[in-house]
Amino acid sequence: MTKYIIKGGHPLHGEVTISGAKNAAVAILPAALLVDGPCRIENIPQISDVTLLLNILQELGADIRTVNRHTMDIDCTNVHSFHTPYALAHTIRASYYLIGALLGRCGQAEVPMPGGCDFGVRPIDQHLKGFRAMGAEIDNQEGFICANVPGGHLRGANIYMDIVSVGATINIMLAACKAQGMTVIENAAREPHIVDLANFLNSMGANIMGAGTDVIKVRGVDHMAGGSYSIIPDQIEAGTYMAAAAAAGGEVRVCNVIPKHLDCITAKLVEMGVEVEVEDDALVVRRNGPLRPVNVKTLPYPGFPTDMQPQIGVCLALAEGTSVLTESIWDNRFRYVDELKRMGANIQVNNKVAVFDGVKELIGAPISACDLRAGAAMIIAGAAANGITEISAIHHVERGYEDVVGKMRGIGVQIETRDFPDPVEEPAKAG
Ligand code: EPU
Repeated sequence: MTKYIIKGGHPLHGEVTISGAKNAAVAILPAALLVDGPCRIENIPQISDVTLLLNILQELGADIRTVNRHTMDIDCTNVHSFHTPYALAHTIRASYYLIGALLGRCGQAEVPMPGGCDFGVRPIDQHLKGFRAMGAEIDNQEGFICANVPGGHLRGANIYMDIVSVGATINIMLAACKAQGMTVIENAAREPHIVDLANFLNSMGANIMGAGTDVIKVRGVDHMAGGSYSIIPDQIEAGTYMAAAAAAGGEVRVCNVIPKHLDCITAKLVEMGVEVEVEDDALVVRRNGPLRPVNVKTLPYPGFPTDMQPQIGVCLALAEGTSVLTESIWDNRFRYVDELKRMGANIQVNNKVAVFDGVKELIGAPISACDLRAGAAMIIAGAAANGITEISAIHHVERGYEDVVGKMRGIGVQIETRDFPDPVEEPAKAG
């Protein structure tokens, strides 16, 4: 078992370069299934969710060549299967984008029910409602979602989303690219990675308008040719390093970012008394004084992102006073609070609201990364805490953060990975 060991309590200094956006990459890789010919994709983050998706595409018959660490040539011309292998696909959330992409490509898809972080119930009814409106028949067989289009071709439809869903917006866009006629998605999500996916698809010949607004129109095309595309920087990875500088203090330059995507995070940190200097493609985050308490509510973009909720939670745990953090996207995204309490934080959770009474310091302790962003928050807490923090279940973090140890070291965090023997299971006692 590998753990992160952090010796914390020192202000941070240094520079970090942000990788390509995870949640854009996990949509753009399946989108390559719609392209007839090779596409070169640049700025792909090296994370385990991406490795899994590349393996799935290869199993389906895609030809994938590595150009360099972050660039791949992907050619799906010879993809021969619409059945996604269970062992690879059931662990990650983004495998559900294979439904939209395969339906758009060949009118058939068999994909396991998706996995991903555990935040309570994660329905996909809006995705399925969209596919059905476009003519697909869908049922659930032995853990697989089986979809097919009688006649082979999806047709455009008007789809009104009951809730704002990133995944459903992306999945319907994928399915609609090669459908017959126009698809209109109303009440669409507006996250930067939705715009990035639309830009990728358009650069390959799709006809998508309105991405980044709440009405997206997709006019189906017959053919999408290859090309090359570079993925945007990761908004949440950047926000995570900004929060690290805010929680531990010091001065950190966060490079290769799109500052506009970070406005919601920057605004909250400034309200807390953190200085943020905005450059063309970098931010300098500086904190010397105390953190002020603030209220935070997570919302779809351009609101404060739920994927930054645990990281800002660490800052609130150290602020001088009482803050209220309201989660409005997921039912159960406060599991990390118990870990922060082990470090001395004073937090009360009631359903989807957490009240933080800031403490003067956190103290290092053995804690667990309960999911991807909670794991990132635990690293920030370890960096800010006095003493040694030992973080287990780090595979969650590696799903979505490229070289987190190297990058954290680059800004002055004393972090290393250490192997421990796996715990031995106690034999069952008789009686
Ligand atoms: N929802 C439904 N029905 C649906 C789809 C969603 O009720 O068919 C609900 C969800 O239960 C949730 C809300 O709508 O309450 C929003 O869910 P959304 O579909 O937007 O989430 P997602 O697409 O499953 C993506 C990211 C998550 C991020 C959310 C919200 C990917 C692969 N995942 O999930 O990212 O939290 O959007 O921004 O893009 C992460 O990166 O750590 C992560 C969890």
